[in-house]
Amino acid sequence: MAHILHVDASPRAERSISRALSNEFIAAWHTAHPEDVLTYRDLGHHPVPHVTETWVAAAFSPPETHTPELTEAIQTSDVLVDELFAADRYVFGVPMYNLSVPSTFKAYIDQIVRIGRTFAVEPTGYKGLIEGKKALIITAQGGTFRLGSETGGYNFHEPYLRAILGFIGVTDVSFIYADGLNLGDETREKSLESAHAAIQTAIATW
Ligand SMILES: Cc1cc2nc3c(=O)[nH]c(=O)nc-3n(C[C@H](O)[C@H](O)[C@H](O)COP(=O)(O)O)c2cc1C
Repeated sequence: MAHILHVDASPRAERSISRALSNEFIAAWHTAHPEDVLTYRDLGHHPVPHVTETWVAAAFSPPETHTPELTEAIQTSDVLVDELFAADRYVFGVPMYNLSVPSTFKAYIDQIVRIGRTFAVEPTGYKGLIEGKKALIITAQGGTFRLGSETGGYNFHEPYLRAILGFIGVTDVSFIYADGLNLGDETREKSLESAHAAIQTAIATW
């Protein structure tokens, strides 16, 4: 039995492609693995707070020295980090916004990248503290910015997510793209077809 953490970041509801595809994956996964446990977090509709001065003071001081104010400031972050450790696999629905991730997802990243909890600074360098997890990113994009293509240099979404997840120890990261969604009906249909097929493959192989 595995524990899956499913996170959506689109602010859109029925119109969201990343949300529809991440739900498609989760539904198919549940059919294949009915015993697995699921935790869901909707950042698009229930964003987590941005970090504050008090948050920073709490994150960079030992918990045993925290005043009630500092404990409260870091509480959401503690819950989100606990959620990451509790799950075995992560399914993140993350659109491309302005060549990177939506600010809701960036706010989430700021909450989960925590010194002493998800990464450590050792004499040999940085060490990610989350071990043995897998992440699947399902992304929807209006244009096409595949890495290695002519426009790939504009893609700060996949390289950023691979880097920051790797930084906290999550190095097994896969991507499913639905892109070119705003480049005409034919391109959109082909892209959705290939995303549906990639989801089926991932169900069998992830
Ligand atoms: C604020 C904003 C910024 C966007 N920036 C990009 C972008 O940089 N590159 C791109 O390919 N598509 C961009 N798009 C298009 C979205 O990626 C596309 O509509 C995608 O389907 C959104 O995900 P969703 O369908 O899950 O809501 C942007 C859309 C919005 C609303």
